[in-house]
Amino acid sequence: MIIRDERPDDHPALRALLEAAFGGPAEADLVDALRRDGDIAIALVAELEEGPAGHLVLSRMRAPPGTLGLAPLAVKPSRQGSGLGSALIEAGLARARKEGWQGVFVLGEPAFYGRFGFTAAQAAPFRSPFSGPFLQALELRPGALAAKDPKAAYAAAFAAFE
Ligand SMILES: CC(C)(COP(=O)(O)OP(=O)(O)OC[C@H]1O[C@@H](n2cnc3c(N)ncnc32)[C@H](O)[C@@H]1OP(=O)(O)O)[C@@H](O)C(=O)NCCC(=O)NCCS
Repeated sequence: MIIRDERPDDHPALRALLEAAFGGPAEADLVDALRRDGDIAIALVAELEEGPAGHLVLSRMRAPPGTLGLAPLAVKPSRQGSGLGSALIEAGLARARKEGWQGVFVLGEPAFYGRFGFTAAQAAPFRSPFSGPFLQALELRPGALAAKDPKAAYAAAFAAFE
């Protein structure tokens, strides 16, 4: 398995992957909208011999400054549970840290994202339409998420999910 940047020729395979993983087109449509808006900061593909088997997108948040939203993350159903999702998160966080991003927000299962250091407590001070136990955050630098105006706003394309 290799992890590499997404390429334009991956788009059809990634749509199929997202539709299979989520059971519908909403997340594939979200990725199209993020691409169209120029809001994608990091997009990684986990590739097996058979082709793309995992996909991770990190998009620029409108607030707080210098933060990323992790979504979607998807692994081909036949390959779930074999470490691809975890490897994509580790690679995405390493890249974000290297590029100097301050923190990452995610909406998902705490039992899964807690493994990578995300906590609901870190996200709790931020006002967001997604506030609650599933909204989690991770600082990429100590103190980076100690916001003065604690508002968390995903890229515009996420409005479809509010
Ligand atoms: C969630 C997903 C990306 C995980 O990728 P993956 O490659 O299957 O995950 P990994 O193999 O790296 O890790 C699997 C571990 O995470 C756990 N896990 C996976 N999904 C979980 C969930 N929703 N809640 C809690 N734990 C979860 C598994 O139980 C497994 O635990 P183990 O290591 O103790 O056996 C993948 O299952 C998927 O695409 N699901 C459908 C789409 C989806 O729900 N995406 C997440 C959006 S927030």
